[in-house]
Amino acid sequence: MNDPVPAPLSTTIRRLNADEAAACVDALADVLIDCVQGGASVSFMWPLSRADARAFWRGVAEGVAREERILLIAEDAQGNLVGTAQLIVGMPENQPHRADVAKMLVHRKARRQGLAQRLLAAVEDAARAAEKTVLVLDTATGSDAERLYQRAGWQRVGMVPDYALMPDGAMCGTTFFYKRVR
Ligand SMILES: CC(C)(COP(=O)(O)OP(=O)(O)OC[C@H]1O[C@@H](n2cnc3c(N)ncnc32)[C@H](O)[C@@H]1OP(=O)(O)O)[C@@H](O)C(=O)NCCC(=O)NCCS
Repeated sequence: MNDPVPAPLSTTIRRLNADEAAACVDALADVLIDCVQGGASVSFMWPLSRADARAFWRGVAEGVAREERILLIAEDAQGNLVGTAQLIVGMPENQPHRADVAKMLVHRKARRQGLAQRLLAAVEDAARAAEKTVLVLDTATGSDAERLYQRAGWQRVGMVPDYALMPDGAMCGTTFFYKRVR
């Protein structure tokens, strides 16, 4: 795994199988709720109920079981789940080589240590292992995440204004990126 950022070695990144994903629903919900509370535009409005957050992650675990999604997590030295990212590999039959990166989330208490960069590198490694060659993602325009993807060599495609809402209801643009990972 390429890892140019001196992130804490005590933090581990690993891929979860479906049973592990189901067992981590509460911890994943904690991270999602923290991110949405912090103003991240990641499909949900604020307030986000624990029930809705858990339901989302149960659906992700089911997607892992169907082999439609690859789910990665970052755990700190105490075993606390502090970050996550997904690769959506279940694609239409005319796009077998493509995957989407989704739900890159790092808890506010664990940010600015290079965890997202490590998660992204692990996602790209997982994509190569799955024989995916073209990855696509979108993110809120002007967000911390936009800089992350640019730093990691993703190609900016363009921006769609007023694509989504921020958790507080304000309109936000969305920037699309792709990366070849062969
Ligand atoms: C976007 C997000 C995932 C980034 O997570 P992160 O773990 O803080 O990311 P990194 O640590 O890799 O990089 C963040 C910043 O810390 C800096 N950094 C990295 N390692 C560092 C270190 N050891 N010491 C100091 N700074 C460091 C990076 O250079 C980067 O700087 P920038 O703000 O100037 O771009 C996180 O902010 C988040 O979860 N946001 C809310 C959810 C979201 O928007 N997700 C994206 C959906 S597409």
